[in-house]
Amino acid sequence: MATIKSTTYTIHIGDKSFDALNTFLNKNNYSHYYILCDEHTFEFCLPTLLFHAPLLNEAEIIELESGEDKKTMETCLQVWGALTDTGADKKSLLINLGGGVISDLGGFVASTFKRGIDFINIPTTLLSMVDASVGGKTGVDFEGIKNHIGTTYEPKGIFVNPGFLETLSERQIKNGYAEIIKIALIADINFWKELKTLKTAKEFQTEKIITKAIALKNVIVKKDLHEKHIRKSLNFGHTIGHALESALLKQNKDILHGEAIAAGMIMEAEVAQLLKKITKKELKEITDYLASVYQKIKLTKNTKALLLQYIQHDKKNENSKLAFALPNTIGSYELSLQVTRAQVAKVIEAYEAL
Ligand SMILES: NC(=O)c1ccc[n+]([C@@H]2O[C@H](COP(=O)([O-])OP(=O)(O)OC[C@H]3O[C@@H](n4cnc5c(N)ncnc54)[C@H](O)[C@@H]3O)[C@@H](O)[C@H]2O)c1
Repeated sequence: MATIKSTTYTIHIGDKSFDALNTFLNKNNYSHYYILCDEHTFEFCLPTLLFHAPLLNEAEIIELESGEDKKTMETCLQVWGALTDTGADKKSLLINLGGGVISDLGGFVASTFKRGIDFINIPTTLLSMVDASVGGKTGVDFEGIKNHIGTTYEPKGIFVNPGFLETLSERQIKNGYAEIIKIALIADINFWKELKTLKTAKEFQTEKIITKAIALKNVIVKKDLHEKHIRKSLNFGHTIGHALESALLKQNKDILHGEAIAAGMIMEAEVAQLLKKITKKELKEITDYLASVYQKIKLTKNTKALLLQYIQHDKKNENSKLAFALPNTIGSYELSLQVTRAQVAKVIEAYEAL
């Protein structure tokens, strides 16, 4: 089992993470346990958790409906209500068993209930293992804006068991893999070289790959929890990718975050090349690998118009100038690079021509 020390807590990865969980539960004298899950993690993950952590058989189970559209204040009201009705107090522990929707919402509920109770994350999707559960960002969507209401509030521990991924679809594995590719491109050239050799979803989700990706993100968030400087590097691929995701969701198109980020990374790598931050050879390497894992996304006229509109409103923009975090040679990054609208239009065109 690998263990990674974060700011104030430890991330345990591997089969033995259940032992670490039992030690954690025995050491902390919580008054009540609450397990937050959705219908999928209730079915596929909860029985395994209860089998390996028998203390949790006395936990209250709060089951939510799955889906990003449930990551709302209305659902929080439901969870705060369930905690209140069952006598939760300051010494209660909330256990988030699920993907990023559960850990984002559960972390937010825990941070606000009685001005903050303890919570831990037991991530069950690749995306939540390598990204969402790590780094203390919690929150919900509001009035159609993603993660609009939230807090920075860290868990007391993260327990990652890659075995949970057995019931996850290949599409969801690739969804999480995009964030693994991202962290390699901005933080570790050797990791990138290793990733380039991987071809199948099975290879994308090994304990070794997961551990490396978590360790790299952890180094960054430990230095800059509140995203004042280097944490912005994690936005590579997300300025265009996030705008693309919003544009497609607005048209009710079926798109996962990682799929949009993969396209975003291709386009932003092209921006990095235009700004001479990476070579043409590096750009080709990045594009070829991403195109081998992810299908190209079709950009209709309507999608393109919305895409440009959303990029314009990105919250990272400074003084109405577009600001990007991009690789500066593969394996390192540069923040707050100013990019013109014409350059953005050019890279969208280049993506369409692929
Ligand atoms: N806080 C952060 O730093 C951060 C970072 C990245 C993403 N996020 C957030 O994470 C969310 C996306 O996370 P996600 O992709 O995990 O989505 P998700 O939580 O919606 O999970 C995806 C689907 O997989 C199902 N599922 C979960 N575990 C399963 C398992 N083991 N077997 C079978 N099905 C399973 C879920 O029920 C759901 O239907 C977004 O809301 C995003 O904003 C947060």
